[in-house]
Amino acid sequence: MILVAGATGELGRAICHRLTQRGGTVYGMVRPTSAPEAVAELEAIGVRPVEADLAEPESLREACSGCDTVVSGMTAMGRPAESIDAVDRDGHLALVAAAAEEGVERFVYVSYSGAIGKDDPLTLAKRAVERTLKHSGMSWTVLRPSYFMESWLAPALGFDLAAGRVRIYGDGRAPISWVARDDVADFAAAAVDSEEARNATLEIGGPEALAPLEVVALCAALTGRELAIEHVAAADLEDRVKRGASPQERSLAALMLAYARGNAVPMEDVAERFGLELTPLRAWLERRLRAGA
Ligand SMILES: NC(=O)c1ccc[n+]([C@@H]2O[C@H](COP(=O)([O-])OP(=O)(O)OC[C@H]3O[C@@H](n4cnc5c(N)ncnc54)[C@H](OP(=O)(O)O)[C@@H]3O)[C@@H](O)[C@H]2O)c1
Repeated sequence: MILVAGATGELGRAICHRLTQRGGTVYGMVRPTSAPEAVAELEAIGVRPVEADLAEPESLREACSGCDTVVSGMTAMGRPAESIDAVDRDGHLALVAAAAEEGVERFVYVSYSGAIGKDDPLTLAKRAVERTLKHSGMSWTVLRPSYFMESWLAPALGFDLAAGRVRIYGDGRAPISWVARDDVADFAAAAVDSEEARNATLEIGGPEALAPLEVVALCAALTGRELAIEHVAAADLEDRVKRGASPQERSLAALMLAYARGNAVPMEDVAERFGLELTPLRAWLERRLRAGA
């Protein structure tokens, strides 16, 4: 039996799709405020919802009870009502403790690339959970994905192809291994029972590292249309990391700053060891453009 925490999230749902397709019982952690359509999607594919509250250790132990594996991709980022300390740090630490107490054998944790961030709240939380998990007594896998195409090449972060405008963090010359969210979900599902993934930290990127300006050129070639580029200076981001009004703002600025500095991840060896085919950015963009985004 597997428990997925963060099951209602974008990545969590993609992981649940893969785990239910393999058979076996999959529980998805939900809460009363979870989006009903996300819970309905999970139920439709056979995930059993289990309610738990990160602030109530007993509810976490109940959720973990009888499970051999926990996979977690919970995060407060993008949810202004949530706190990074409460979800990404304390919530995960409580979930790791509950899983260990309930005899869970393996814990797969979705963190992010080692090159991202340093002393912003989200990075401190991610690294604290990684360290604690490694000493939990359970078998562990830390997945450290690079920048998701779906998040960073999307209108919410200023990359708006439909409007002909794109925002780039920094000068756009440092290569990034953009990764498709579905590829990260493939790794998470594989990590559940892979010997390769046991007690391993896996940096995960897409199949090639492309500088944001190269991505823009590719988009222009695919759409046949020039794009207006807005640059956000790295110096502004450095300032926001220090002086942002909230932990979420400071953490988001740290992610943008690390993007400005680039994040190339060599992937050939890792993809081959897991037998996974990674999505090239061009194919992902073509799919997105066909879908009218
Ligand atoms: N986006 C990127 O580029 C990127 C890159 C590398 C790593 N990652 C990591 O990938 C993971 C998944 O990201 P995502 O975009 O799929 O996230 P998401 O869609 O925002 O999902 C977040 C999940 O966390 C849950 N959650 C939030 N607050 C909670 C609380 N107080 N109690 C219980 N659950 C709570 C949400 O549940 P509700 O639905 O109930 O709110 C949801 O299931 C994150 O750990 C993120 O750091 C992302």
